[in-house]
Amino acid sequence: MGDVLALAYPWVKSLHVILVIAWMAGLFYLPRLFVYHAEVVGSANPTDALFQTMERRLLRAIMNPAMLATWLSGLLLLLTPGIVDWSAVWPWVKAASVLAMTWFHMWLAGRRKDFAVGRNTVTGRSFRIMNEVPTILLILIVVSVIVKF
Ligand code: HEM
Repeated sequence: MGDVLALAYPWVKSLHVILVIAWMAGLFYLPRLFVYHAEVVGSANPTDALFQTMERRLLRAIMNPAMLATWLSGLLLLLTPGIVDWSAVWPWVKAASVLAMTWFHMWLAGRRKDFAVGRNTVTGRSFRIMNEVPTILLILIVVSVIVKF
């Protein structure tokens, strides 16, 4: 098992980075849709249905599968012998940031459900602020895996 993972390592890592990009694209775009949905489109507006469709498809067709596959590929990398030294700080920073990113994904999924039933209570300004969360986590993760402090 360890040998196979070691052989596959560069391929799994490539796949991991590709999947991370797909997941992050959604994590940046969905809160932007929410900003416009909250500020421009009231629930009585016909554009409301269009926003709901865009949000549902983005989450279900792209973000959920990308998150799952990112996790799977990341766990395969974790199981690869000699890749992660848990006595260093970076794996812990990365793990905490990835958990926070997953929480953010779930939070967005909850807000999508609120929009779907016409019960959003979050302002456009709050969505703009929340939009910075994935940026900060992305910086922490990339510095962790590249600098390896
Ligand atoms: C979801 C759970 C995740 C797990 C379990 C995980 C785990 C890992 C592991 C073990 C590596 C190998 C490190 C190495 O080769 O030295 C890796 C590489 C990498 N991860 Fe993740 N990761 C996850 C999510 C993410 C996320 C969300 C991002 C970005 C936002 C990310 C970005 C990267 C990058 C850029 C690399 C390549 C670093 C290099 O060039 O060596 N990962 N990941």
